[in-house]
Amino acid sequence: MTLKTNDLTPRIGTEILADKQALLSGEHAAKIRELLEQRGVLVFPQVNFTDEEQVAFTNTLGTFAPEHDGEIIYKVTLDTKVNAKADYLRGSWYWHIDGTMNKVPILASILSAKVLSPTGGDTDFCNTYAAYDDLSDEGKAEIETLRVMHSAWNTLFYYDPEPDPRLLRGMMAIGDQELPLVWKHRSGRKSLVIGATARHVIGMEDKKSCELLVRLRDWATQPQFSYRHKWTVGDTVIWDNTGTMHRATPYDPNAGRRLHRTKLQGEEAFS
Ligand code: SIN
Repeated sequence: MTLKTNDLTPRIGTEILADKQALLSGEHAAKIRELLEQRGVLVFPQVNFTDEEQVAFTNTLGTFAPEHDGEIIYKVTLDTKVNAKADYLRGSWYWHIDGTMNKVPILASILSAKVLSPTGGDTDFCNTYAAYDDLSDEGKAEIETLRVMHSAWNTLFYYDPEPDPRLLRGMMAIGDQELPLVWKHRSGRKSLVIGATARHVIGMEDKKSCELLVRLRDWATQPQFSYRHKWTVGDTVIWDNTGTMHRATPYDPNAGRRLHRTKLQGEEAFS
């Protein structure tokens, strides 16, 4: 059976209209994987997966990646009664790639909307392959061999500019990792590795390094590389974490917004 698809923007995002049982059977899995790499973000409007169905669907697409504590369904919410580590998610309002502290970042996240905020709480995505491709030859040459130190604690300063030193030390304990600024994928494609964890360009003077990282973030998140998903309860969205950045748009932390996340294990190291 062929999949009914509808591209949401020219460079990123495709809607997939498919029968839920067909999705769960895995019959479309190969095509979905292909589209995920080509289109970065796939939207399954109103598919209304239960948690069990979301896990089953995730398993059709690759190797399921549980959370560090073994949790299967992660609740993306700022409500600390539902997620004890909700404060950490305040960093999710800023453009980022998941797993920059790991050698092999997760391949993809699958998110299903359960409760929404009356205002804000959309999810923005941008295509970091397309953003690299559209750089000028000079722009590409400028960054081709550069390496960047990524630190989880860098994100803290986005939402808590004067942090408690204990909180800062806790974030620092998560670690740091040096990564290439341009990811040369096995496929031959190249993408930018930037976002809120990117702290400084190795060997570059502070101001120059900061200016470059801000300039690249601004470039990569331009409208022609981006898609904003406005959620309806029951939607599921998958994104290719290796060729996109994402962020939530600000919402009232007390609104009860809750999305359920599963993940696919990474298949390729940053290189
Ligand atoms: C995330 O950063 O994974 C969460 C995105 C969202 O809350 O929309």
